[in-house]
Amino acid sequence: MTLKDQINKTKLPAHIAIIMDGNGRWAKQKGMVRVFGHENGTKAVRQAVEASAEIGIKNLTLYAFSTENWNRPKLEVQTLMKLLVKSLKKEIKTLQDNKIKLQAIGHLEDLPKNAIAELRYVIDQTKNNENMTLTLALSYGSRDEIVKAFKDISTKVKNNIISVDTIDESIINKHLYTQNLPDVDLLIRTSGEHRISNFLLWQIAYAELYFTDILWPDFAKEDLYEAILNYQNRERRFGKTSEQLTS
Ligand code: FPP
Repeated sequence: MTLKDQINKTKLPAHIAIIMDGNGRWAKQKGMVRVFGHENGTKAVRQAVEASAEIGIKNLTLYAFSTENWNRPKLEVQTLMKLLVKSLKKEIKTLQDNKIKLQAIGHLEDLPKNAIAELRYVIDQTKNNENMTLTLALSYGSRDEIVKAFKDISTKVKNNIISVDTIDESIINKHLYTQNLPDVDLLIRTSGEHRISNFLLWQIAYAELYFTDILWPDFAKEDLYEAILNYQNRERRFGKTSEQLTS
């Protein structure tokens, strides 16, 4: 039986988030420049999106560019932005064919104008697709997102739109970029690093964490299926005991 066939379709993670790491090292191993790794990283993005769509994952979020990534060499940043625009142009048909809705989270206004325009176009064109939501985190930082939520909520309290007593987890959820997404069930990071790197800190409170040594450009459909199978074999207790879960 293939890995894909072994997946229990009734126990799929509702939301998978991926920290795509290792493009630079992958390129270096091949004696190539870092941007070659990013180019091949886009192929792995396609594999992960297709694999998720094929088994019925409803929400996939990819960490494509962090607020800290602006500090990389200018040429690398420019190449990443070009790759983003190229991929959006190239993949819009795949998104439509698979009824995938694209959305983006982060400081999108920091992106180059042509990237913002292309993103807006694809987001608008795919807005009615219902099979899966693909979220790209771009110029994203989780603490920054939480600060923004604090500010927005405080302003509403100040203007008597909400009262302090009504602030609860659901109100905070509603003020995050991810307001329309369920909590992350499975967080994957490639390349052997065991860090969260300021990604979806609030949303991963109960996520299962899955780390693999595979470098992102080598991450194939089978690797995603393996991560999902691993997730399905874990016991998620949400603070309860094993006995409570089985009784
Ligand atoms: C991490 O590898 C990867 C990134 C910072 C960017 C991820 C971007 C892509 C996969 C391509 C473009 C994305 C889209 C959505 C079209 P790294 O450079 O940190 O690798 P290293 O840790 O080995 O140096």
